[in-house]
Amino acid sequence: MPQVKVFITRRLPIELEQLRSLATVEVWPERQPPTYEILLKKVKEIDGLLCLLTDQIDRQLIESGKLKVISQMAVGYDNIDIRAATAQQIPVGHTPGVLTDATADFTWALLMASARRVVEADRFTRAGLWQTWEPDLLLGPNVTGATLGIVGFGRIGQAMPTAGCTYARRAKGFEMRILYTSRQRCQPELEQSLGVEFATLEHVLQESDFVTLHTPSADDTYHLISDRQFELMKRSAILINTARGTIVDPDSLYRALASGQIAGAAVDQGEPEPIPTDSLLLTLDNLIIAPHIGSASRQTRSKMATMAIANLIAGLTGDRLADCVNPEIYNS
Ligand code: DGY
Repeated sequence: MPQVKVFITRRLPIELEQLRSLATVEVWPERQPPTYEILLKKVKEIDGLLCLLTDQIDRQLIESGKLKVISQMAVGYDNIDIRAATAQQIPVGHTPGVLTDATADFTWALLMASARRVVEADRFTRAGLWQTWEPDLLLGPNVTGATLGIVGFGRIGQAMPTAGCTYARRAKGFEMRILYTSRQRCQPELEQSLGVEFATLEHVLQESDFVTLHTPSADDTYHLISDRQFELMKRSAILINTARGTIVDPDSLYRALASGQIAGAAVDQGEPEPIPTDSLLLTLDNLIIAPHIGSASRQTRSKMATMAIANLIAGLTGDRLADCVNPEIYNS
């Protein structure tokens, strides 16, 4: 039995032979994540941890063990105290790039479903309310030719506008006008080739028929969309969030949707997550809520798991992680 030990916090959709030839592997078998107390106990016994965004990897946990690597199966890593890991010289891996298209596809599914009221239509039909063709039944806005506002144009945590391009290309197929706002403006050549216009957040909110959020979860994006931002939006506008729940103030979202301040929203995230079953948000017909499945295509999840295992193995064998959140540890 290899002496090196790793803990994987959930079953993964790939085989683990290569990892098993290098390490003793324990996989958490439950559907629910291990509790923080269990993680705290495990971390004292292992060399490598493969975790998910549902695992709280904070300073106390990081300082409790002697981890050689933390490998997250997600592109986002707001559940991990990166500073604490860096202070301990522990490389943190993540899985950028491979889920950009799947997440953009799902964003588009939410945008279309919300605009054309697909979920409401299904509920209406199942409730036996479909009695005839009606000229004004379940009307929604046009998607073709509308204005799309993209908030956050880069790949999470990086300046590369990969994600923004992915959304812009989809929007182009629907002949949309595309506004974007981002910490960093793209090169003019890229703006031109994608047909996108840079604007302030305020302008994006005021002008757009659909606003889609793609910023990372960070101190400066916490509740980026609150009452004031909803007030700036058109009453006919639809908000899509497939980024992180913390970007939208849930109370403001409820008020905006319940009062008709905006027409609709579709979110793949919540704050907290999962959304509590007694949340008022669940009473709204003009809100679609999905359980954080943006990247959930079979191929994508398998690629994410493969990347996470590769990062884990690299960390265990002392190699540089291909996708490292804190590469500065290699300089010191
Ligand atoms: C991520 O990777 O950060 C997504 O939220 C889950 O795929």
